Amino acid sequence: MINEKLPQIFYGGDYNPDQWPEEVLDEDIIYFKKAGINVVTLPVFSWAKLQPSEEVYDFQWLDKIMDKLAENNIYVCLATSTAAQPAWMSKKYPEILPVDFDGRKRKHGGRVNFCPNSKVYRKMSTSLTRKLAERYKGHPSLLLWHIGNEYGNYCYCEHCEEEFRIWLKKKYKTIENLNKAWNMSFWGHTVYDFDEVVVPSGISEMWRDSGRERTNFQGISLDYNRFMSESVFNCYHEEYKIIKEITPDLYITTNLMGTFKPLDYFKWAEKMDVISWDNYPQLIDPMYVTALRHDLMRGLKNGKPFMLMEQTPSQQNWQPYNGLKRPGMMRLQSYQAVAHGADTVMFFQLRRSIGACEKYHGAVIEHVGHDNTRVFRECAKLGEELNALKDKILDSTIDAKVAIVFDWENWWAVELSSGPSIELNYLKQIEKYYKAFYDMNIAVDFVNPEWDLSKYDVVVAPLLYMVKDGVASNIESFVKSGGTFITTFFSGIVNENDLVTLGGYPGELRKTLGIWVEEIDALFPNMNNSFKLTENSIKLKDEYSCGMLCDILHLEGAKALAVFGSDFYKNSPALTLNQFGKGKAYYIASDPEEEFIRDFISHVCEEKNIFSSFEKLEGVEITERVKEDKTFVFILNHNESQVEVNLSDKEYVELLTGEKKIGKVTIKAKDLVILEK
Ligand code: GLA
Ligand code: ZN
Repeated sequence: MINEKLPQIFYGGDYNPDQWPEEVLDEDIIYFKKAGINVVTLPVFSWAKLQPSEEVYDFQWLDKIMDKLAENNIYVCLATSTAAQPAWMSKKYPEILPVDFDGRKRKHGGRVNFCPNSKVYRKMSTSLTRKLAERYKGHPSLLLWHIGNEYGNYCYCEHCEEEFRIWLKKKYKTIENLNKAWNMSFWGHTVYDFDEVVVPSGISEMWRDSGRERTNFQGISLDYNRFMSESVFNCYHEEYKIIKEITPDLYITTNLMGTFKPLDYFKWAEKMDVISWDNYPQLIDPMYVTALRHDLMRGLKNGKPFMLMEQTPSQQNWQPYNGLKRPGMMRLQSYQAVAHGADTVMFFQLRRSIGACEKYHGAVIEHVGHDNTRVFRECAKLGEELNALKDKILDSTIDAKVAIVFDWENWWAVELSSGPSIELNYLKQIEKYYKAFYDMNIAVDFVNPEWDLSKYDVVVAPLLYMVKDGVASNIESFVKSGGTFITTFFSGIVNENDLVTLGGYPGELRKTLGIWVEEIDALFPNMNNSFKLTENSIKLKDEYSCGMLCDILHLEGAKALAVFGSDFYKNSPALTLNQFGKGKAYYIASDPEEEFIRDFISHVCEEKNIFSSFEKLEGVEITERVKEDKTFVFILNHNESQVEVNLSDKEYVELLTGEKKIGKVTIKAKDLVILEK
């Protein structure tokens, strides 16, 4: 439980009373109560108000707000306000301002616009944090801590460059090691001193290509990403340590952004007491895409419940087209988060601001200023329901038999690479395989490839291009002891420095997979090939199309379940299976059409006896959370029309209504049931 002071699903969100005259707070509190809101996150962007100049701090306005909230039994997720430094600070200490990828020194403006290695920034942000923690440590409204906001600031300034060199010295010890790790004899890039290393950016080794950052030297760019992810993390962690020292019993978090590429969230998660994240799907995004992100966020802390820190009650402002969530959608998406492991439902924002870029961003309290709106009514209804659920679902977890490997460093490496195809997109591959399980209502965990995999029956590692130390043996022992492992084309190619593992692809995975990939063909967008099934025992169609990359491979113990249908490698293996120890290792040697992945994954699940206890219905998402001897089944109907779901002969209690359910249950359009058994 995040905090026993509030043993229920937290409901509320970002609140910016500092943008409003004082009396608005009283009005807001009335509306919060009407909407069942019990938590507000603040003050996320109030550094300039909390510290008008270097020597002067002003907390009185915040005292008043905190006290009034406490009087009204509304709790606070207290933010440290360090995501946007005051203008006076940037002016007085220009070193705080970062340098961007193109080498431009930034001026003050926006937010998260600071150099993560700036000593002045670190000093100023931690001083403010210490003051806040000391001042509010015993405050009755204080529930948990929220550090910064949506970190993600890479910097390429000279100071970062110096710090990078120090980081490299620590990592590589000698310049020879570094030259070797980055293969610097290529293009005569050998360096003789750490001081000769420059940051990889748009004015040195890197460039942008089709919206992506590419590099001449993957080794240095990967290290820079690691270094930046760590530098930014250190900003967070320095504040974290201070808060922990002062309020050791309170949870500390920062709001993550789902599949956000620049930061290695698995590393961040080690020092987050609870994961929280901001969910902003576009109106047209398919539901599985959001489900995946929830599952990934849950995976960061190995399945522990997470916080939905932000979502809009109605619309965003920053997407090209900011469609309204249709009636019922906000509620359904809130429960979707809970269904995937969230223990909070929170919004950005509680009151719509009057000016600047977020004035057209949805809020619980709209510009009209009263509660007689569709959005408010929907929020209030949800608030009532969540309050009534009390602590029932809290702390329940998801018991998955399937895991998908997700690795940020691999993601960086795949897409920093030059060749073999610009179409290589790690996230798309992850999404494709995830969707196959999602469509069957089979729970999926996301795991780091270095973690213990033994509790899973099936592990899928799409595009596992980079195989870091220990990963191959981890996979090998998983398969040996009976697990089913699936990987795809362009896997096992390099080590953690993006140096090719010599001796034949897929490198260290070769033994487990029982194959040798000799060549990799890249197809143009208008070209394709096909998988022709060879084996009768596997119940798939005779032929499926495939594209992007085709591996030309030899069997070394594995058998071919499908072969390529055309080109000079016609009849060479396209889908292989290696019986290894007690387990199985599959290799998918190209990027097949979705139908293949669906059929193949359902075949594998059948083999391992993994299934959902409910029939599959289009647009209906089903998950289960378990707690002690209780199971909570979430059935979400994303369709525009009602559906009937067969519960067979099991008897359930419907949590939101208290009714007994058996046999068939009807769920209206954009509605849901939570069944307890
Ligand atoms: C992010 C931020 C918020 C706000 C919202 C708007 O998630 O954390 O401060 O800007 O986006 O959608
Ligand atoms: Zn910098």
